[in-house]
Formats: sequence, C-alpha cells, structure tokens
Amino acid sequence: MDTSSSPDGAPRPLLELLAGIDLALWVWDPAAGRMAYASPACADVWGATPAELAVDGRAWLAHVHAEDREKAALGLKGKELRDDEYRVTLPGGTERWVRGRSFPVRDSAGKTVRVAGLAEDVTQRRQMADALQQREAELLQAQKMEAIGRLAGSVAHDFNNMLTVIMGYSQHMLEAVKDGEPRRAELELIARSAEKAGALTHQLLTFSRRQVTQTVLVDLNAVVSDMHKMLRRLIGDDIELKVTLAPDLPAVLGDPNQFGQVLMNLAVNARDAMPKGGRIAMTTAALHLDAPLRHRHGFVPTGDWVSLTLSDTGSGMDDAVQSRIFEPFFTTKESGKGTGLGLAIIYGIVAQAGGHVVCDSAVGKGTSFRILLPKAKSGSVVAVMSDAAPAASLRGTETILLVEDEEWVRQVARMTLAEAGYSVVEASGPAEALYMAGHHHGPIHLMLTDVVMLQMTGFELADQLAPTKPDMRLMFMSGYTDNPIPDKHRATPFLAKPFTPSGLLQKVRAVLSA
Ligand SMILES: Nc1ncnc2c1ncn2[C@@H]1O[C@H](COP(=O)(O)OP(=O)(O)OP(=O)(O)O)[C@@H](O)[C@H]1O
Ligand SMILES: [Mg+2]
Repeated sequence: MDTSSSPDGAPRPLLELLAGIDLALWVWDPAAGRMAYASPACADVWGATPAELAVDGRAWLAHVHAEDREKAALGLKGKELRDDEYRVTLPGGTERWVRGRSFPVRDSAGKTVRVAGLAEDVTQRRQMADALQQREAELLQAQKMEAIGRLAGSVAHDFNNMLTVIMGYSQHMLEAVKDGEPRRAELELIARSAEKAGALTHQLLTFSRRQVTQTVLVDLNAVVSDMHKMLRRLIGDDIELKVTLAPDLPAVLGDPNQFGQVLMNLAVNARDAMPKGGRIAMTTAALHLDAPLRHRHGFVPTGDWVSLTLSDTGSGMDDAVQSRIFEPFFTTKESGKGTGLGLAIIYGIVAQAGGHVVCDSAVGKGTSFRILLPKAKSGSVVAVMSDAAPAASLRGTETILLVEDEEWVRQVARMTLAEAGYSVVEASGPAEALYMAGHHHGPIHLMLTDVVMLQMTGFELADQLAPTKPDMRLMFMSGYTDNPIPDKHRATPFLAKPFTPSGLLQKVRAVLSA
C-alpha cells in the first residue's frame, strides 16, 4: 500500500481489512491539507483513485456536481458531524448519488487533528425512493380522480332518470298545447332547460367514465379530417392551423364522436391560450414504446400506441396549473368563460379507451397535449353500429317488453310507446320481466331494458331471455353504467338517458324496422 495514503501508524492487518471492504473510507489531515488515507473503494464512489487523492486530497471534489460541491466540501472541515448526499459524475459520465458522513478526530486537548469519513453510493436507494414517491403521487391522483368521478357519476345517474321524466311530460304537454297559447312558451322553456341539463350530465358522465359508449375501430386521421373545417372556424383567422397526418395510421378502439370532442376541447383551449394569434399543429403518428414513458401525471407503459398531438404557441402553464388541469371544475379563466370541464372530459374519454394524456408546457413557450391510444390488436373486429335513418313514421303496433325499475321513467316510456300505437308489456325489474315473458301469449318483438338494476343487469337479463325468444330484438337504455358493455352486446342498439319521447320513438322504430 502506498504509505502516503495510509493512516498514520495503523497496523498492517487493519489496513488490509479496510482495503477489503467496499466502503469508501478516508482520513483527512487538516493541518497538512492532504488525505492521510483513502481506501480503494474511493475510486468507485468518487471517481478519484487513492493515488490521485494522495497527490491532491481534494481531487474528488472536481467530480461532485457543481451545485453540491460547496456542501460536499464541508465534509473536510471537521467542524461537526456531517451527513450529506450529493451527486458525483464518474469519469465514464454516469451520475451517481453519494452519501458522505464525516466526523472530527480530536487529540486530548480537544484539537481536531484528523477528519475521518465514509462515502457510499446510494443511487439505487435514491432511485427506489423516487420511484416510490412517484407511484404514491400517481396513486393519489388516480384515487382523487376516481372519487370525484364516482360522485359525478352517481349524481348524473339520478339526474338522468329525473330528466327523462321531465322531458317526457313536458313534450307530452307540448303536444296538447297549441302554438300561440299562453302556456306554450313556458313549457318550451322547461323542455329546453331539461335538454341543457341533460347535456351537462352527459359531460359529467364522460368525465367519470360511466358514460355508455359504443366502441368501434376508429381511424384517427379520419376524425381529424372530419373535424378540420369545424376547428378552422372555431379558432378564428388569427391562428394558423397545420395538420400533419401519418400515412397508414393503425386503428384504435373507441367512440369516434368522443375523439372528436377531445380534439375540439383541445383546440378551444389552445385558442384561448393565444388571444393575440399563433399557431396550432395537429399531428397523428404511430409510436412504439420500448420503455415506459414517464410524465407529470403518470406513465405510459411499453407497447404500440397511436398518438394524436395538438401543440400551440400560446401562454403555456406553470407547474401549479399543470398539476391540476385534469380536475373537474379547475379553470384559470374568468367566471363565465370556462367551466373547467374540458380537460376532465378528455381525461375520462381517453382513460375509457385505455389511453393516456401527456401534457408538456412551459410558460411563454406554448403547450402540447399528446393523446396516446393503444393500437387496436389485429383481428379485433367490432360491429359498427350505424345510426339508422330517421323513420318516416314513429308509430307501430308491435309488442314491446319494457323493463325499467324507476317507476316514473317507466311510466313516461310506457305512455310514449302506447300513444304511438305499440302494445307495452311492463316489468319493474328482471324477475318480473322473466315472468311476464314466460306468461305472455303472442310474440314479443322487442325488449327495451334498463341496464343498471338491482337483481341483475339488463345485459344478463337479455342473455337469459334471448334463447327462449329467438325473434325478440333487443335495445338497452342507460345513461350510466359501471359495467362495461359485454363484447356480445357491443352492437346492440343503445338508447342514452336522458331521452325525449321522440328520441325513444325514433330509436324503437329504427330497431324494429331494421
Ligand atoms: N393549451 C393550453 N394552454 C394554456 N393553458 C391551458 C391550455 N389548456 C388548458 N389550459 C389550462 O387548463 C385549465 C383547465 O382547462 P379545461 O379545458 O379543463 O377548462 P377550461 O378551458 O378552463 O374550461 P372549459 O373547457 O370547461 O370551458 C384552463 O383554465 C387553463 O388554465
Ligand atoms: Mg377548456
């Protein structure tokens, strides 16, 4: 061993022991301003070998990150017990975290004659702690969104049933009150308000991911192209719009109308961030991730993704705003200008489709929102539900089994259907529906059933009844579902609550005539 790097007077076996352990151990001689001893492991931790340290005891400091250097150097002072963590860049260029501990060694008179210390590589521990912290933050964020979503979803569910009743009876009364009669305008106001309220519950349900959606294979390029004209008009003349579509873009699974809404909400936000004009770029791309993509709000797992990016040259957002953007009702816009639902809705739509929203933003530089949706697996064939053309007549004489556990909703639906000429067999739940179907003489042409009921879901009821009634058509109605639509029912017609009487009749006629 180099005598210049051995602690003064230490016996040889001790030196060998010290050399054998992989802790970086050192002894500093403050009077001489040199390392009295440095163990071989100092080279691994600090990137400076004992030989180099023998020449210049402070050589290791050159490898310490500039921001941490002052703190790390205090370790040599020997004024107190020190325990610091600092960054070191090893000669190969890798950055490591080092924990350094040091203490003064005093003589009998209390004078500091040496400073002794330990240094160890704690990079792995730091990384694990960081990852844990990130996971905790993600979990907290997910739980928060889940809780708000559940609240919004259950409120919207009850509202949808009530709104169906309000819409039903107001439309019914409108039919009895002629144009020009004094009560007519008031009734119209009720009907219109109910529809507006329905639009709001629809947004809340979209956010809470309890919105009933029908999933189809979607070409995001087509969604962008379809929306282009509308977006152009929406953002005004002061903003340039550049669209770049990737050729041969793989399909994704989801609801094309909802993806359209995502684009629109993003474009409106971008417009609002550029009151003096600017540029919006919309791009689609296929993307393969070899490693998870970490970002502020979580991470995107490895795999094949299709991305839709909307960037603007607007105001950008600071950290505090960025961390809250997906919260429903979080807005920085003056009251009346924004409700703070735009990004919450995007979050819900994208999450429901199994995707992620990645936001990059810097104050004064602009913002970019990247939507990543999983590439649809080859062979995933999904029936495409085309909305049937509006029926010429909304009347019919077929028999309909109506299953709905909300009494008032059932009454409105029954009244509407009966007045349009249909025979209605009513059931207040799945058990009663099974009984009625078993005891009904004559054909049942259609079962119109609620989805969320106590004994079993509408899907399960349909599965039980269908084998005994091969000619019976099916239609579900719901505004809210905690259960995803089973694959076999993805193509079954769906009536979203709240519905108006004419909406109901349209859909019923279309299904029966198909
Ligand atoms: N492109 C953007 N540039 C700068 N800030 C943005 C951008 N997009 C969103 N934000 C910020 O995020 C906030 C939330 O956006 P979000 O779309 O959810 O609600 P909003 O636009 O305020 O209201 P709403 O969309 O309901 O009309 C905005 O108020 C704004 O501060
Ligand atoms: Mg918005």
